[in-house]
Amino acid sequence: MRTPLVAGNWKMHKTVTEAVALAEAVAAGVRDLAGVEVAVAPPFTALAPVARVLTNTPVRLGAQNVHWELEGAYTGEVAAPMLAELGVHYVIVGHSERRRDFGETDDLVARKAGRVLGAGMTPIVCVGETLEQRDAGRAFEVVETQIRAGIGPLGPDTLERLVVAYEPVWAIGTGRSATAEQAQEMHAHIRATLEAIGGGDAARGVRILYGGSVKPDNAAELLGQPDVDGALVGGASLQAEAFASIARSAL
Ligand code: 13P
Repeated sequence: MRTPLVAGNWKMHKTVTEAVALAEAVAAGVRDLAGVEVAVAPPFTALAPVARVLTNTPVRLGAQNVHWELEGAYTGEVAAPMLAELGVHYVIVGHSERRRDFGETDDLVARKAGRVLGAGMTPIVCVGETLEQRDAGRAFEVVETQIRAGIGPLGPDTLERLVVAYEPVWAIGTGRSATAEQAQEMHAHIRATLEAIGGGDAARGVRILYGGSVKPDNAAELLGQPDVDGALVGGASLQAEAFASIARSAL
């Protein structure tokens, strides 16, 4: 019912030249893959050239961030219609690196996601607890609050138009992924929270991705969980072969 989505978040990696080469390799690597949606999110500077590479391929283009206003005096920022015009399909919002380093709050996440939807694109709303919060037994409560405050204000009708990514902060870039069991129980909790917001039918349609040290050797087990509908991949998405292997694990 839910088509798996495997998305690569390239973060602050790849010049335009490097990004074009990686996008070409990814497109070639997943060319024969049916039944899994694949997306890559290069840095802003590489969006237009990568969009050209991905034309006439099934790989979708993502962006890593967006501003919460439509336009204005916001030096250094990029607005949703600018991304839409480039052919961007997905926009990552609320990544924990942005929450941590750029003060992104749940309120801003909701506003950004609203702008993404308003421009006809799909937000990938990221949530996830820190190690301290998990150790304190607060992981479920923290993630539920992020979902309610970051997605709730968008209204129940928008659920079918967004993607959620559960990325435990302690698993990002650490090589220490969540176990399949930890991922599944949190994904089920997220789906239950979405159901409270928008009803069972809508919640059952939302794709919930897992992110945090997804690699070719742990992807199949994580992606095999009933409520894990794909992956948001950082480090391993910078190598076309590893990324394609993860995408194949989603089948
Ligand atoms: P890693 O796969 O490098 O742990 O990064 C995950 C991530 O933050 C994707 O958005």
